[in-house]
Amino acid sequence: MKILVTGAAGFIGSHLTETLLKRGDTVIAIDNFNDYYSPARKRANIAPFLENPRYHLHELDFSERAPVEAVFSQHRPAAVAHLGAMGSVRYSVKHPHLYTRVNIVGSVNVLDAAQQVGAQNFVFASTSSVYGQTNQIPFVESQPTDFPLAPYPAGKKAVEAMGYAYHNMHGLNFTALRFFNVYGPRGRPDMMPYIVTEKLVKREEITLFDNGRMRRDWTFIDDIIAGVVAAIDRPLGYERINLGRGEPVWMTDFIEILEELTGQKADIKAVPAPASEPKVTFANVDKARRLLGYHPHTSIADGLAAFWAWYRQAVRPE
Ligand SMILES: NC(=O)c1ccc[n+]([C@@H]2O[C@H](COP(=O)([O-])OP(=O)(O)OC[C@H]3O[C@@H](n4cnc5c(N)ncnc54)[C@H](O)[C@@H]3O)[C@@H](O)[C@H]2O)c1
Repeated sequence: MKILVTGAAGFIGSHLTETLLKRGDTVIAIDNFNDYYSPARKRANIAPFLENPRYHLHELDFSERAPVEAVFSQHRPAAVAHLGAMGSVRYSVKHPHLYTRVNIVGSVNVLDAAQQVGAQNFVFASTSSVYGQTNQIPFVESQPTDFPLAPYPAGKKAVEAMGYAYHNMHGLNFTALRFFNVYGPRGRPDMMPYIVTEKLVKREEITLFDNGRMRRDWTFIDDIIAGVVAAIDRPLGYERINLGRGEPVWMTDFIEILEELTGQKADIKAVPAPASEPKVTFANVDKARRLLGYHPHTSIADGLAAFWAWYRQAVRPE
C-alpha cells in the first residue's frame, strides 16, 4: 500500500516508516526538519531509509498548502498517517500562533489534500491531553474534551472536529488516535524519559513538578506503532481511540527505574506544576482492543531499559 506519513523524520514517524517499509509498503514521507529539537537527530532517524526505493522523502512545511497538494497529486496515497506537529504542551503556552498555523491550518492542508486525491483512510495523531484536568479516570473516549489546558490540546481537538466534518462531507475515513506519553528509542529530547536520563548521567538537578505526585500512562513506542498500523489497515468511518498502556506510573517510581538503570541518584528540585499540566493521564484502552486488536504489552521497566540501551549507544557513546 502507498502510505503518506507526515512528521516522518520525528520520533513516532520514523518508527512508523521503519515498520511500513519492512512489511513492503511504499512510504511518502513529509517533514520540514524544523529546529524545535536537533534537525541532525531527525536526519539520523531517517538515514537507514534513504536507499530504499519504496521511500520517497519530501522536505516541506505542510502549513503551506501548495507543496502539500503537489505531493498528494504526484503520489496519490491510499492512506495518510498525519503525525507531523509541534508536539509540546508547555511550548505551546508561549507560542499559540505557531501551534495554530502548524497544528490546525497545517492539518487542514493535509486533510484537504488527502480528500482531493481520494485517499481511503486518514489517521491523525491526537493526544491524551485533550482530556484536560479531570477526575474521571481512566479516560474514556466518550468523555467530554471541552476544557483543554493549553493551545496544543485545543488544536488537536480542533482537528478531531475537522476530521468529522471531512468524514461527513466527503465520506473520508478518519481515525484520531489519542496517544498517551509515548517513549522509547529515538525518543524526543524534550520529554521526561530523555530529560531525566540526561540529568542523571550529567549529575544535574532534576526539576520535578509537585514532588513527583503525578502519574503518567507511559506507552512504549512498539505498542503505539502496532496500534497506528492497525488503524491504517482498518478504515473505521469516524473514530477517536485512546492508545495508552492503561497503567499510569508515579513520576517518583519512573525516576527510580532510571536511577537503577543509570546507576545514579537523582538530585530533585520540587516545583509546583504549571496550569498546563494534568495531574494524571490514564487510558481506558477497551476501544482500541475491540476495534484495532491493540494489546500493549511492554512494561515500564522493559521499556525504559530499551530506552536506556538506545541512549547509551546513540546519544552517549562511551
Ligand atoms: N510523543 C508523545 O508522547 C506524543 C503524545 C501525544 C501525541 N503525540 C503526537 O504524535 C505526533 C508525533 O510526535 P513525536 O513525539 O514523534 O514528535 P516529533 O517532534 O519527534 O515529530 C514530529 C515531526 O513533525 C515535523 N514537523 C513539525 N512541523 C512540521 C511542518 N510544519 N511541516 C512538516 N513537518 C513538520 C517535525 O520536524 C518532526 O520531525 C505529533 O502529532 C504529536 O503531537 C505525541
